[in-house]
Amino acid sequence: MTTTDAAAAADAHTAAADAHTPAASPVPAPLDGAKLKADFPLLTREINGQPIVYLDSAATSQKPHSVIAAMSDYYDRYNANVHRSAYFIAEQATTQTELARQKVRRFIGAAHTEEIIFTKNATEALNLVVNSWGRTNLANGDAVLLSLLEHHSNIVPWHILSAERNLELRWIPVGDDFQLDLSNLDELLEGVKVVAISAMSNVLGTLPPVSAIAEAAHERGAVVVCDACQFVPNRVCDVASLGADFVAFSGHKMCGPTGIGVLWGRRELLEEMPPFLGGGEMILDVSTEGFLPNTLPWKFEAGTPPIAEMVGLGAAVDYLSGVGMEAIAAYEEDLVAYAQKTLKDKFGDDIAIHGPADGPRGGSISFAYRDIHPHDVSQILDQYGVCVRAGHHCAKPLMKHLGAQATARASLYLYNTREDIDCLAEALSKASEIF
Ligand code: ALA
Repeated sequence: MTTTDAAAAADAHTAAADAHTPAASPVPAPLDGAKLKADFPLLTREINGQPIVYLDSAATSQKPHSVIAAMSDYYDRYNANVHRSAYFIAEQATTQTELARQKVRRFIGAAHTEEIIFTKNATEALNLVVNSWGRTNLANGDAVLLSLLEHHSNIVPWHILSAERNLELRWIPVGDDFQLDLSNLDELLEGVKVVAISAMSNVLGTLPPVSAIAEAAHERGAVVVCDACQFVPNRVCDVASLGADFVAFSGHKMCGPTGIGVLWGRRELLEEMPPFLGGGEMILDVSTEGFLPNTLPWKFEAGTPPIAEMVGLGAAVDYLSGVGMEAIAAYEEDLVAYAQKTLKDKFGDDIAIHGPADGPRGGSISFAYRDIHPHDVSQILDQYGVCVRAGHHCAKPLMKHLGAQATARASLYLYNTREDIDCLAEALSKASEIF
């Protein structure tokens, strides 16, 4: 089965699935986090004799049974390489991976299947943009506008290119309210060729107004690259209304496996971009003189792809869609408000939460607790089964702005509950007793 045949087969499959999908309810059904916990085998574990309280989903999410089963099923029943062979299980592998691409397309509202590029993770997706689009379109001295919220994966690739091309990196600052300070946006956008922006901060939970920034950037002819690693798992993502030209995210933060990420790009941009990596799969022809690149999306998928991971990501999309992204977003907003109130009520000035105090925000709650080092906080919480991350969260420019080397961070997802937050607060009280 060729890549085109496989895509056609997956298209037909998806059209049939679309026809049987009931119309979305305008009011999301309320979500029951406690009930959803049962879908995640790891969440039944005990750590140090206590039920695990997993509050590190911004780093990686847990995986439901259905995702683990889909990946096992691939290895058990149809493990074969894709797009290469005509025998039954190879065709099955090809069809299932292309079906996963269709599921991702629908999940983010992309118009075209060939706009969905599978990568190793969001970091690779962003490196693809910088190395392919950036190398083709950015010349010495060109300006790139980033926000101070960015994760290193949306900073370092630009620094690397800048070392060759002497780019001018400009920064959208963060205000005291932990929102982007857009008061000088017009000035910052002057002459800018590309804007690189996060849709949800992994440290603060801030939700930058990506579509407004993209509109302003497009008026000046700039291209917009969006790191949606935290956004896609937690909010309804429609790439058309987000307004960016490229959107990157990772499978493992959205109930899927590690080793797979996605780059969505506007077809007209992707078509003009040269391949990022060379090898098998990404060519139509090779001779001693040169090569002819494959069509989209395979032009950007060199080598044997992460097959089981594609299948797993497809199952994760099914899982999240089954719960409902609107319901997940509403549930998390409620949970994060409960967490902020609980921590503030209990600890007052002993806790400083770095992030918007109210209004819509993501589920990452970074905090400083008394004068206890974040790594000590994390280790003590672990004794009570509570998993939080401590460190710079791969956002060192932001940490410098916050005046902190590190923070402790509790990050929430659909399987967390108010009881989990109560356990966090209780374990923090115990930390006070120790220090
Ligand atoms: N980007 C991930 C985090 O924020 C690893 O923890």
